[in-house]
Amino acid sequence: MSKADQYARKAAGWSDAEYADAHAYLDHRAQLVASLGTRLEPGDEVLDLACGDGGLGAFMLERELRYTGVDAQAEMVDAARRRLGEHAAIEAGDLNTYEPGRPVAATTVFRAIYYAHDRAAFFTRLAGFTEKKLVFDLNPRQYRLDDVLAELRAAGFPRVELRPFFVPQTRRLPAPAIGLLRAAELAGPLARLALRVRFTYIVAALR
Ligand SMILES: C[S@@+](CC[C@H](N)C(=O)[O-])C[C@H]1O[C@@H](n2cnc3c(N)ncnc32)[C@H](O)[C@@H]1O
Repeated sequence: MSKADQYARKAAGWSDAEYADAHAYLDHRAQLVASLGTRLEPGDEVLDLACGDGGLGAFMLERELRYTGVDAQAEMVDAARRRLGEHAAIEAGDLNTYEPGRPVAATTVFRAIYYAHDRAAFFTRLAGFTEKKLVFDLNPRQYRLDDVLAELRAAGFPRVELRPFFVPQTRRLPAPAIGLLRAAELAGPLARLALRVRFTYIVAALR
């Protein structure tokens, strides 16, 4: 079965099936989107490319941000529209070509940066319509961080803030353990050690 067929089959209920504790995971992701680097203000628009079923959307809306989701898969677009209703705009589109037609405060790309055919060109295109920051996740064992940072600088994102993201995707933990992991994200060398074997960075590339 192709990857696209797999996404189509899993679209309904994607976030709840994909994240053991979807609330803890997506709320923390949203908190970093809003606060890492340049802070987003109420009314700012977040464009979420490869949005899946729009699971991040509710957590952006509750922070008084506007949310537009874009996904290539029709079933994901339907699932996101069902989830968010009239509170958000959800469009079908390919992240390699999608243009919002207006500037947005922030563009996000989660668990999908590998769908960019030419990552450097992708970053340059996003810089053309992203006013404050681009936020995405990056597995440092899959990509050389220095390469990605150089591409971001060349694209027009001169500053980058990195934050380890330690809320687990596939394990539900008690709230105190989540609190400890979130605190550990700020523990410099220890956090970098953990990233050698597991977890990802959240990258905020700033305009
Ligand atoms: C691993 S899921 C991540 C979904 C969501 N961002 C999340 O973090 O839960 C990858 C998503 O990328 C979408 N996708 C794959 N290729 C794409 C493309 N070229 N343009 C836009 N979306 C794409 C898939 O349909 C799927 O919804």
